[in-house]
Amino acid sequence: MTRLKRAAWRCTAAASLLALGASASLAGERLWISLGDDAYRLLRAAQPQVVSVTEVEVPVRVGRLGATAQERVHVVRVDEDWLPALSDAVHRDLHRCGGFIVHDSLGSAREAVQQVRQRALQPEAVAGSTYLINQQALVQPMVAAVQDSLVLQTIDSLSAIQNRYYTTSHGVNASNTIAAQWAALAAGRSDVSVSQFSHPSWPQKSVILTIQGAEKPKQHVILGGHLDSILSGGTTENSRAPGADDDASGIASLTEALRVLLASGHRPKRTIQFMAYAAEEVGLRGSSAIAADYLAKSRKVTGVLQLDMTNYKGGTKDIYLYTDYTSAAQNDFVARLAATYLPELTVSTDRCGYACSDHASWFNRGYPASFPFESDFNHHSPFIHTSNDTLANSGNQAAHAAKFAKLAVAFAVELAN
Ligand code: BES
Ligand code: ZN
Repeated sequence: MTRLKRAAWRCTAAASLLALGASASLAGERLWISLGDDAYRLLRAAQPQVVSVTEVEVPVRVGRLGATAQERVHVVRVDEDWLPALSDAVHRDLHRCGGFIVHDSLGSAREAVQQVRQRALQPEAVAGSTYLINQQALVQPMVAAVQDSLVLQTIDSLSAIQNRYYTTSHGVNASNTIAAQWAALAAGRSDVSVSQFSHPSWPQKSVILTIQGAEKPKQHVILGGHLDSILSGGTTENSRAPGADDDASGIASLTEALRVLLASGHRPKRTIQFMAYAAEEVGLRGSSAIAADYLAKSRKVTGVLQLDMTNYKGGTKDIYLYTDYTSAAQNDFVARLAATYLPELTVSTDRCGYACSDHASWFNRGYPASFPFESDFNHHSPFIHTSNDTLANSGNQAAHAAKFAKLAVAFAVELAN
């Protein structure tokens, strides 16, 4: 990454920290959120009247050898309008994610952070899986069938939409476009269905494709990414927020994994679901609603894979497995999948902080989640959340995102059988 590219990201973030201090007069909706300590301190610097009402210490893993660090998580009530600026300020000042989770009430926020701590202390319950790798005959041809050019096409068409913000007409269209593209891939398969998950508080729907399991249909293998995009500093109906890397790339990797899986005609034993989440950029809201629904219905989830940013190769390695708020056992399985099916690739680890993407929505509810990412944290795309998050700024290629499509198809087939 060049110095110029990094500077572009910092400038946008700097502008929005000013907005954070200045926005006290704005009167958006007041929301209960949970957030990490770094983000909390920055928030307090700009808005000293904000006070944490609950604090918990959460152990998070560092690297693959079981070492842990502590992260403090807070619950605060904030004005909705501060949140984008807060997130940007954390990225700029702390080179971490400014992740936060929006909760329905103080009670559910408090319960959620106590749960996070519990989840981090005890290994998650794994529904059925032994993490064996023994489906080579099925997986190898699917991996070989992944086409970079089709991943590129999906990134190109999704990033051509004006924005995919969760409240705009374009954001609604983006959900419908993905639902239509996935339904077309499912044509002629009576065991495959596509639905849109409605969220009562905003118009953008999440998209869920289901391949009904042939032998253990109640156990779910879930692969997801977020369909929304955001423009830092404030997104309105006509804002340009292409989100080519964040996260058209993840949706494109998933769509290509889905294409080769369906084209093979394979019928998995467990149910496989592909999810395009609404409203991630505003506090993991779409994935939180879905994971909460699964928990309320006591659905069994064998494993969850999150793809959010797969196409900007900023690091020296190919795939980075993020170790915080993810499952150590499942991450080890994902690393072995890469070694088995993608031996030419190099794999490393990093962390992104509290609630940086939708894997946290599942992890927090006790489901095993993994988050393979495009780069180490310091070298992720510097263009995210700007009008410059374009395919051109990821080098007009999709070879990097195609690696994640291959990993995703291996994950789906090995875990579902
Ligand atoms: N794709 C990003 C997360 C990300 C960015 C991970 C850079 C690793 C490196 C995601 O869409 C995002 O922007 N998350 C927010 C938090 C969210 C809850 C508002 C963030 O990173 O601050
Ligand atoms: Zn994202």
